[in-house]
Amino acid sequence: MDKFVIHGGKKLKGTVQASGAKNASLALMPATLLASGEYKLHNTPELRDVATMSRLLETMGLKIRRDDHTLTINSSSITSFEAPYEHVKKMRASIYVLGPLVGRFGQADVSLPGGCAWGPRPVNLHIEGLRKLGAEIEVEGGYIRARAKRLHGARIVFDVSSVGATGNVMMAAVLAQGTTVIDNAAMEPEIAALGHFLRAMGAKIDGVGTNHLEIEGVDALHPADCVTIPDRIETGTLLIAAALVGDRNASVRIERCSPSHMSAVTTKLEDVGAKLTLGKDFIEIVPPESIRPVNITTSIYSGFPTDMQAQWMALMSLAQGTSIITETIYSDRFMHVPELIRLGCNITVKDNIATVVGVHRLMGAKVMSTDLRASASLILAGLAAEGMTEVLRVYHLDRGYEQIERKLASLGAEIERASGEEF
Ligand code: EPZ
Repeated sequence: MDKFVIHGGKKLKGTVQASGAKNASLALMPATLLASGEYKLHNTPELRDVATMSRLLETMGLKIRRDDHTLTINSSSITSFEAPYEHVKKMRASIYVLGPLVGRFGQADVSLPGGCAWGPRPVNLHIEGLRKLGAEIEVEGGYIRARAKRLHGARIVFDVSSVGATGNVMMAAVLAQGTTVIDNAAMEPEIAALGHFLRAMGAKIDGVGTNHLEIEGVDALHPADCVTIPDRIETGTLLIAAALVGDRNASVRIERCSPSHMSAVTTKLEDVGAKLTLGKDFIEIVPPESIRPVNITTSIYSGFPTDMQAQWMALMSLAQGTSIITETIYSDRFMHVPELIRLGCNITVKDNIATVVGVHRLMGAKVMSTDLRASASLILAGLAAEGMTEVLRVYHLDRGYEQIERKLASLGAEIERASGEEF
């Protein structure tokens, strides 16, 4: 298993480009199940999760080809309506095939996704939403087995704002008979991107990007092409790297990103003391003289993203004071804390609140990745730590960051990938 070897203390400056958004691609790809034909998804990042989704769709008969960052997907022959355990266990987002399969074919057998490092990941909202649309759903033998003649419109109000459940219900409703209204829909940019893509395919959806969606079912859709939006979490991670170890007499510029999707993160970085210049598709950051402690509470979009919580914790570890990090989306998304403490961070956790007491220095150590964003926080801390840090099991990171070690090295970081010992 690969690891990253980091020699901390190097100052970052220069220009780097953001990749396409993983969580947009993972919704756009299964949407191609909704109409036969050829689609081109441009700016699709080269990630493990995208490869996992490709393999899953290929087991269903789709043909997928990658040319640089363009995926060409041909869904003319769909031979299976099943998402088997061996795929779903690798990636929860595999459940995104459920909505389109039930919506178009009236049939889907999708393995229940496993839990993850930070607690159970229920799918009740997905199931309840599809049942409201008329699907008969049994959960047995570790599988969600859904059957429907033709789905019908319904009024759905999600108890909890859910990115995945909103995506699945949208993809099921676009071919249902009648009108579906969804309230408390997720507003994340990746779900808005899915809504725009479905409209390009001929779907009738009003309210894209808001928490109130009105979908008038149509009899059929047609293929379309799209350009995947930039990854706001990758961009935020790179901005925090710059705030932590940027060259104070220079700046880091992130191009091909989406500043308009990032106000919660950019304003917090300004509160920390960083100087940011936001363009239409770039952000330039000059790091703070010293890092001011700034509290965050994660929330649904457009609040502070839970996927940036671990990275923020790494930044606050070197702040001039104490900060409070409150996680409201997941019950226990603090697996990165013990590993950060190994690097010298001073963090205590009680329930869903982490208290971070800023320290003067971090010391390099061997640390273990436990999940995608935890890995990112360990790399960020390693960039700032004195001496060498080894981040093990970076396959977690490869799920959601495209060649991040090369991007950081191009800015001046001393970081390289090495083959880690098996353990
Ligand atoms: C998406 O996951 C993202 N993944 C996650 O990013 C992100 O953390 C999450 O949204 C929240 O923003 C993708 O888009 C592929 P949810 P998803 O359904 O859809 C509860 C990353 O690092 N819930 O919005 O699975 C759930 O337990 C990943 O890129 C139910 O109770 O998240 C959680 O507490 C990690 N029942 C909350 O809702 C359900 O049926 C939000 O989950 C579904 C969810």
